[in-house]
Amino acid sequence: MNNFQYYNPVRIVFGEGQIEQLSDLVPTDARVLITYGGGSAQRTGTLDEVKDALSASGNRTVFEFGGIEPNPEFVTLLKAADMVNEHNIDFLLAVGGGSVIDGSKFVALVASLTEEDGTVSRDQAWDALTSYCRNIDSAVDLGAVLTIPATGSEMNSGGVVNYSERQAKLPFGNPLAFPKFSILDPTKTLTLPERQVMNGVADAFVHVMEQYLTYPVNAKVQDAFAESLLKILIEEGPAVKKDPENMETRKNIMWTATMALNGLIGTGVPQDWTTHMVGHELTSLHAIDHARTLTIVLPSVMRELKESKKEKLLQYARNVWNLTDTDQDDDTIIETAIVNTENFFRELGLPVSLEDVDLDNAAIDPIIKQLEAHNMVKLGEHGKNDLDVSRRILDRAVTSKAS
Ligand code: NZQ
Ligand code: ZN
Repeated sequence: MNNFQYYNPVRIVFGEGQIEQLSDLVPTDARVLITYGGGSAQRTGTLDEVKDALSASGNRTVFEFGGIEPNPEFVTLLKAADMVNEHNIDFLLAVGGGSVIDGSKFVALVASLTEEDGTVSRDQAWDALTSYCRNIDSAVDLGAVLTIPATGSEMNSGGVVNYSERQAKLPFGNPLAFPKFSILDPTKTLTLPERQVMNGVADAFVHVMEQYLTYPVNAKVQDAFAESLLKILIEEGPAVKKDPENMETRKNIMWTATMALNGLIGTGVPQDWTTHMVGHELTSLHAIDHARTLTIVLPSVMRELKESKKEKLLQYARNVWNLTDTDQDDDTIIETAIVNTENFFRELGLPVSLEDVDLDNAAIDPIIKQLEAHNMVKLGEHGKNDLDVSRRILDRAVTSKAS
């Protein structure tokens, strides 16, 4: 196991009815900006519940900013950041999924990057984003009410912002962006369309894979934990599809998705975020849902990098898919594990090839160009996944081998 520091200050408040805890969690004299997405928080009544909880005690002043898009838009977020300054906001409360929480983290980080007229500087905010927001040293406090289990944003300090004008979807991370708390009420997920539930299961699955599927460093805790999370998702994904009202399933999916990307399984181990980085370009060029880009790319990453990931692929086959037939050769075992992974995604109604989303070979060149423009040229646990490797991954992704 490699050396590591593990730090996670996020208070998780889990369970039905826990939104009422906001009256204790948000400072009583705060000037709060509630941020939310395209309307689901209003439609489902969650926004009203949040406002009721905030007014149940104390002397808070509450403002609202709605309209944060899935794959949150840079330009929209700067409007929210201007609102933070205009109203002297000192607490951001994100109500939504990864997009709203990520977007609010970005707002929290860039709000102080102002021009002389007091508005947030587009140039400074863009510079900050292109350097992962690493150098920002102050941020507005932030809390979250999670409405879709998927990204883990509720318990990590990262995010992803989309800037359509520049065809860029870029990640950032800064310890100041850790939420002070996140409320996880699994009953809030009951209003999600099936597509979003399945996306969430797949996103969490791929988060675990990107921290697990590298090379062994004898990190037994991280490996066993990762394998358990994968097995839970393989069980609960189809279960929630079959029986969406089952609250026990909803609870387990919600907590699994949080644990998949709160830093714990990624400590002290190599990581490979190739699937995500290639996936981000697919979202920005073709508006494909984040999770669906991942289920398209991951099987090809597994096949293309089979040699360098061989030991972990065999471990994955053995411990996650129970492929223990010692008469089979390594290649057969690995290919079976990959096909099982594809079939799992397919069972959830997710694409596993470019063809599944009506793209073909012609889509590859523009993706490679964007990866180059975003300096995604040394991906993977060895930093060896250059543009040629990404091209071969995409070549493999055109058609699926799965039945
Ligand atoms: O916008 P509204 O109207 O709220 O609708 C949303 C949106 O259309 C809807 N929704 C959310 N909760 C709902 C609901 N509909 C009904 N009932 C509810 N309870 O679901 C749609 C998708 O929401 P979104 O927030 O976009 O989904 P998700 O949580 O999957 O977030 C995706 C974003 O997170 C980033 C992705 O790149 C993408 O931009 N990621 C963030 C990460 C992180 N911070 O660590 C890691 C991930 O890899 C990921 O990259
Ligand atoms: Zn993801």
